[in-house]
Order: sequence, then structure tokens, then C-alpha cells
Amino acid sequence: MNDTIVVNNNDGVVTLTINRPKALNAINHDVMSGLNEWFSKGYQEIDGLKGVIITGSGDKAFVAGADIKQFTEISEEDGVKLSKYGHDTYSLIENFPKPVIAAIDGFTLGGGCELAMACHMRIATPESKFGQPEVNLGLIPGYGGTQRLPLLIGKAKAMELTLTGDMFTADQALTWGLLNYVVPKDKLMEKCSKIISKIATKGPIAVAKAITAINAFYTNDINGYEFEYETFGELLIGDECKEGVAAFIEKRKPNF
Ligand code: CAA
Repeated sequence: MNDTIVVNNNDGVVTLTINRPKALNAINHDVMSGLNEWFSKGYQEIDGLKGVIITGSGDKAFVAGADIKQFTEISEEDGVKLSKYGHDTYSLIENFPKPVIAAIDGFTLGGGCELAMACHMRIATPESKFGQPEVNLGLIPGYGGTQRLPLLIGKAKAMELTLTGDMFTADQALTWGLLNYVVPKDKLMEKCSKIISKIATKGPIAVAKAITAINAFYTNDINGYEFEYETFGELLIGDECKEGVAAFIEKRKPNF
């Protein structure tokens, strides 16, 4: 893992901090490959992983987008590769079997907003600012934003925000359904940790399958309805469900 991502493990709640504060944590190749590496294999080194918080360093930005400086003198072929690698990486995050929460404080723009949207939940401070400003550069969002933004907030608003490139506030993002919560800065990490710790008390296989099932609604990879009833049956006969049901009947907490 390179030093653009700082990994901190607090009792199974892992925080990945994107660490390029001078460039407002803009995502260059090192950041993207660091994320790709961690979500494809780095996580396996963590014993008792409960979930992941992705955040930005410094007090100005979550992530201010893809690193614009890498867009000079790039071929069409390399541009496609750059975008596709971002897609693949964000898809690893979206399909990660443990909860991934974006802890947002500051500018969350372009590829940064797209990173937040690939997480399972988003929690932000009131001062945070969001946007897909790619049209200002003569570009479109390249890390999944044209697909995930309309899914999260609806086509009309997504179209407006993507075509104007306008920034919007945390309160607007909350109202439109992009955010789960807006909390003061000093409560941001605590709120994310609490949600992850709560989910860690539930059946881990059920949690992973629920992530896959909900994601299936938004992709054409698998039929989500079919996945749901097949998985429901599979879970019913598993040890985890046996323990959950026994605990309910015996009026005790389940031990997963
Ligand atoms: N890429 C590279 N460097 C960036 C950056 C980015 N996306 N965003 C900010 N920086 C750098 C600035 O160049 C500046 O560096 P220097 O000090 O070396 O000049 C430093 O971060 C601080 O930025 P500013 O001085 O601009 O800070 P500000 O407070 O005046 O403005 C801002 C903040 C409004 C966020 C402004 O920096 C900005 O507009 N950034 C670009 C946002 C953007 O367009 N993001 C989309 C990128 S394209 C993309 O993401 C495509 C995709 O979907 C894959």
C-alpha cells in the first residue's frame, strides 16, 4: 500500500484516509490503486473486520475529484483505461461484504462525489459541499457518476446537477437522498463507527448477502428478485439463522 492512503484499525472498524491534503485529496493513480489494492486483498490482513470508513485528510476536502493534472497529454485509449479502472475500483467498494461508509467533511466533487456514492452510506458535516463539476472541464463524470447519481437522487435532479456542474450543500444532499445523515464535525467519525459497530452485531453472512441483493436491483448483473428468494432459502438452513432464531425464542442475544 502506498502512502496516499492511511489505514487505521480501531477494534475492527478500519478508517482509510485519503492523504493528499495539499491537492484536496484529489484521486491520482496512487490513490486509486491504493483503494483497489485494499478492497481486493489488503482487507484480508485485518482480523475481525467490522466495516470501513473512507474519509479525507485535512480540513478542506473529502475528495475534490480525480486529479485534473493527470488529464494533460493523455490518449483516448488511456482515458478509457483510467475511467474503467475507477469503475472497477468503485465497484469493489460497492460490493464489499462489510459496510463501507463515507465520512465527509468539505469539498466532495467529481470523482470524490462518485467515491462517496460507491460507499454503502454517506454521512457529512453541514459545511460540506458537493458537485459533479466535470462539464466545467469539458468532461462528463468518469467514475460512475452518471449512473449512481440518478439512482440515488432521481433523474431530474441528477440531470440538472450534472449539466450545470453546480455545487450543492449538505442539507440539499440530505433532502435529495444522497446523504444518510448530516452531523457536526466532532461527531462525524463517532456516528460512522456506531453504525458499523451496530451492523457487526448482526449475522455477517446475512449482512453480506443483503448488500449483494440491494445492489442487484441497480445492476443488470443478476436478477435481484431471484437472488433474494434463493438466498433467503440458503440462509434459512444456515448456522447463522439457526442461532438467530434460537436466540429470539430463548429471549437472549444471538451469538453470531
Ligand atoms: N485535481 C488536482 N488538483 C486539485 C484538484 C483536483 N481535482 N482540486 C484541487 N486541487 C489542488 C489545486 O490545484 C491547488 O493546488 P496548488 O496549491 O498546487 O495550486 C490545491 O488543490 C488547493 O485548491 P484551490 O487553491 O483551488 O482551493 P480553493 O479553496 O480556491 O478551491 C475547489 C477549492 C473549489 C475545490 C477547487 O480546487 C476546484 O474547483 N477543484 C477542482 C474540482 C473539480 O473540478 N473536480 C472534478 C475533477 S474531474 C473528475 O473528477 C472526473 C471524474 O469524474 C473521474
